Amino acid sequence: TRHPLTDRFGRPIRDLRISVTDRCNFRCSYCMPKEVFGDDYAFLPKSELLTFEEIHRLTRLFADAGVKKIRLTGGEPLMRRGLPDLVERILSVNGIEDIGLTTNGLLLGAHARPLYDAGLRRLNISLDALDPVISGKLNGRGVDPSRILKQIDHAKDVGFDIKVNMVVKKGVNDSEILPMTAYFKDRGITLRFIEFMDVGNDNGWSFKDVVTKQEIFGRLSDSYDLEPVGQDYYGEVAKRYRHKDNGAEIGFITSVSESFCSTCTRARLSSDGKLITCLFAEGGFDLRGLIRDGATDEELMAAIAGVWENRADRYSDERTEQTARNRKKIGMSYIGG
Ligand code: GTP
Ligand code: 5AD
Ligand code: SF4
Ligand code: SF4
Repeated sequence: TRHPLTDRFGRPIRDLRISVTDRCNFRCSYCMPKEVFGDDYAFLPKSELLTFEEIHRLTRLFADAGVKKIRLTGGEPLMRRGLPDLVERILSVNGIEDIGLTTNGLLLGAHARPLYDAGLRRLNISLDALDPVISGKLNGRGVDPSRILKQIDHAKDVGFDIKVNMVVKKGVNDSEILPMTAYFKDRGITLRFIEFMDVGNDNGWSFKDVVTKQEIFGRLSDSYDLEPVGQDYYGEVAKRYRHKDNGAEIGFITSVSESFCSTCTRARLSSDGKLITCLFAEGGFDLRGLIRDGATDEELMAAIAGVWENRADRYSDERTEQTARNRKKIGMSYIGG
């Protein structure tokens, strides 16, 4: 058996979140506000993105280092062409036990079936409201939620295991907590409430915009009978509950009110090949540079080990209004959460 690399706090490397593009067809206000990501925004040129061969090679090395779970993200990952081919390559890597994809869902009509045929089984789909006005405003493109709901139904018919992610922002979409809960409970789809986070430097975050797990749970408890569900795996991000009557699950991602850094086993690979050890990091280590300079597998592995063994990130444990405002952080759309 392999011994995973561990960091300065003894945390093993287990998950790799791979961003396949920095582009997105949405402009969610909490992630890529359109005032910042305008028509003239300079996204990465294709030549700067890791190729599928490069991602495949790095995945093999990360699996040797201890990674078992892969998550494909963006930006919007479905905007990268040929994704089923990448899924197949990743699934062929020894040691990889699980692969998931996080998407806004809009393009699933064309992509769900080919991805399923390539072996993908898990989709996390972002949707913040059922109300068209609230949802359209949050996604920054006026996309009607009925279009996403249709894709969720389609993906379910194809056979995917689906979770829905809802970022909750106070005074913006907290009125949608109950309608969203009722809708997805009925369909037996897991809904996860994500506390609004201070990702990047542009999303205008403040503690007062956060609706905490405790607050959401309190509101749900008036209408629903819920019981806790145990963790699926070490370092699971979401705190899970189940509706007692029909077994449908909900979850909470509590980066703000109950940080989970002490068990954080996640590395991130940006679309241009930087290895990033925290969602709130200032920057990353340039693996693409090494690859394109002709580094051997041994040299790449030594670099990966050097980065992980030096890791001491625990941003969510340290978060204050000060760090939220003043610390320089990488953009969410660049690393996909
Ligand atoms: P599963 O494998 O289905 O459990 O996926 P996941 O929940 O890890 O991934 P997903 O992309 O659905 O992420 C859901 C939310 O959790 C997003 O808002 C992420 O930014 C957030 N998240 C995931 N990992 C971390 C982390 O290490 N730190 C923080 N602060 N947030 C995270
Ligand atoms: N706070 C919390 N979650 C966020 N996401 C994007 N930006 C933020 C933020 N500022 C979520 C998306 C998606 C996941 C990858 O991250 O909605 O579900
Ligand atoms: Fe795009 Fe997802 Fe960011 Fe929204 S949260 S802008 S869908 S990458
Ligand atoms: Fe991991 Fe950084 Fe998130 Fe903490 S804040 S859980 S260290 S990614």
